[in-house]
Amino acid sequence: MKTLEFSNGDKMPAIGLGTWKSAPGEVGKAVLDAIKAGYRHIDCAAIYQNEAEIGEALKEAFDSGLVSRSDLWITSKLWNDSHRKDQVPAAMEKTLKDLKLDYLDLYLMHWPVALKNGVLQPKSADDFLSLDEVPVEETWNAMEALVDKGQARHIGVSNFSENKLRKLTGCCRMRPEMNQVELHPYLQQRGLLDFCRNTGLFMTGYSPLGSKDRSNRKDDEPDLFELPELKEVAKKHDCTVAQVMIAWQVNRGTAVIPKSTNAERIQQNLEAGNIDLDNDDMEKIAKLDKGYRFIDGTFWEKEGNSYTVESLWND
Ligand code: A2P
Repeated sequence: MKTLEFSNGDKMPAIGLGTWKSAPGEVGKAVLDAIKAGYRHIDCAAIYQNEAEIGEALKEAFDSGLVSRSDLWITSKLWNDSHRKDQVPAAMEKTLKDLKLDYLDLYLMHWPVALKNGVLQPKSADDFLSLDEVPVEETWNAMEALVDKGQARHIGVSNFSENKLRKLTGCCRMRPEMNQVELHPYLQQRGLLDFCRNTGLFMTGYSPLGSKDRSNRKDDEPDLFELPELKEVAKKHDCTVAQVMIAWQVNRGTAVIPKSTNAERIQQNLEAGNIDLDNDDMEKIAKLDKGYRFIDGTFWEKEGNSYTVESLWND
């Protein structure tokens, strides 16, 4: 399995199991199926509200001798309602307790958006705190302290634009090492990828298959599985379109976290790491870019607050 090697020598497997949208009652089995299939990277987040079940599965994997803690790369994310410096340690404690771990390999600030404590999904402007009230630098400094404490081996961000990264890297003690963003053939983010490469940050692609199982799906959303170009590449390599989308990310040097709770698809997605796309394939896929976001950030726009889609992605 291809890995991303961090500056201290730690290696993150390029393909991880995504757990966003993995339902209670299913996610634990998915994690165990994934580990049995050979996954060594699991991507979690407090807001997915399934970390306790994942923790049970991890414990079972360790207790049964399937793997040991040091074999796995576990990522989790700080939710937006805990951005104040005195709230970050408690959020980390809760995630560690739920996952039944004493450290994370990677802890990410989930969004550059702050919510009042206890708000999971905002309903009105009143649920937000502005970035003037809680600057990302305050949150970041508290995350740096988690590395000092040994609770996080690496820290990073998610859904950060180039400008926000530039600002953060310019003033922090520890530089972010990861930016997890939406990536797939319709949203290739080449400018951001170049910036991250030149700045020593890795990228992880979320929604690599277009997240068709989202509850807030729009009727007219494109279906990446139906793109003729991807079908052609899949036919050429005798693999599935999903595997082409995953292999494309591995080939670009990013990590990728396809979500599945189906044992066969979990296995299939990991095997995508063995598919070598050639230059023709990569060029064909490069031409598909449309700058199209499935996760467009409009859910952060509430009348009267300071967050806009424009300020999120193009500030
Ligand atoms: P399932 O969990 O039933 O396998 P994303 O990773 O972009 O969020 O996409 C997740 C969606 O893609 C889920 O609906 C998941 O369904 C589906 N999926 C995951 N792997 C595959 C695959 N190999 N082939 C087809 N659909 C897949």
